[in-house]
Amino acid sequence: MSTTILAIETSCDDTSASVISDDIIKSNIVSSQLDHSKLGGVVPEIASRKHQKNITYIVNRALIESSTKLSMLNAIACTNGPGLLGSLLVGTSFAKSISYSLGIPLICVDHIKAHALSHTINTSKVDFPFISLVVSGGHTQIMYIESYDNIKILGETRDDAVGEAFDKCGKIMGLDYPAGPLIDVLSKDGDPFKFNFPNTKVPGMDFSFSGIKTSFLYFINDNLNANKNFIEENLNDIASSIQYKLVEMVIDKLKIALNEYKVSNIAVGGGVAANSLLRNRLMKLENEMNIKVNISDIQYCTDNAAMIANFSRFMYKDKKFSRYDSVPFSKN
Ligand code: KG4
Ligand code: ZN
Repeated sequence: MSTTILAIETSCDDTSASVISDDIIKSNIVSSQLDHSKLGGVVPEIASRKHQKNITYIVNRALIESSTKLSMLNAIACTNGPGLLGSLLVGTSFAKSISYSLGIPLICVDHIKAHALSHTINTSKVDFPFISLVVSGGHTQIMYIESYDNIKILGETRDDAVGEAFDKCGKIMGLDYPAGPLIDVLSKDGDPFKFNFPNTKVPGMDFSFSGIKTSFLYFINDNLNANKNFIEENLNDIASSIQYKLVEMVIDKLKIALNEYKVSNIAVGGGVAANSLLRNRLMKLENEMNIKVNISDIQYCTDNAAMIANFSRFMYKDKKFSRYDSVPFSKN
């Protein structure tokens, strides 16, 4: 018998809904909120209101595009954390009400775990175990994935996430939010070795990006004091140099994990996995360490409900259903 699940993702500033049927994604609608771009970051109040405004339309579109009627659904999945609490409450409450009214199971999915398995979208066979790197605006984690429900966190950020570091450095340079993709584009015509920034040393596989952000701020301010046109005159080189440093910090930690855990596969997900230098470095690692690197399709790297639908298919098979008194969480 065929299994069809509707999934909802509202953990940050993207309202998304997806339908998966027999392990294949049939629709994946993502509405990105543009309201935050001039505000320098996601404003939680605005994000929650926008989700509330958009969610019915986005869910309907996901159903229509996949030619799915509500009566065809076997379960409803939603992200229940980590993320912005107000935003999560919109998605989880909406999912609970559909589940309750249709009398079908509710499946609450962890956003980071969904990113970690996003490369398995539309695949029937998954090669466990593997090392997963999730690099996004909210999270930077290295995990050992024994199976979908046996995930060990090897390292994570102690402060800012790497995407956040891209965005904050971009803001210091006067770029709009999210600055990560803009830094990526600007870097293509820049010299990655023109400027050097100190590496924050953190033991093991944990990360810290707040130190580099502060030294970047001092670097820009000092140079602006000497030359008020410093940013405009060096935009590409500044972007390229900070991107190089941030990517190297991630690769260094990933190498520690690969030396410690002998796996033949790694998976990379999260918005920063769209970064072209990171993708390049990962391809080199593939040869250097004789390892297969699975990078999620760009559309599945950034926040999307298809990855929630994808993760929920494993939970559905094992009947890992959630209770109606489950509460969203902002941090894990
Ligand atoms: O996974 P995601 O869509 O949302 C979160 O869960 O955070 O990731 C968004 C983050 C932002 O910080 C954005 O600047 C960053 O991913 N990002 C990039 C690129 N594309 C998105 N950072 C660097 N280079 C990119 N090409
Ligand atoms: Zn995310």
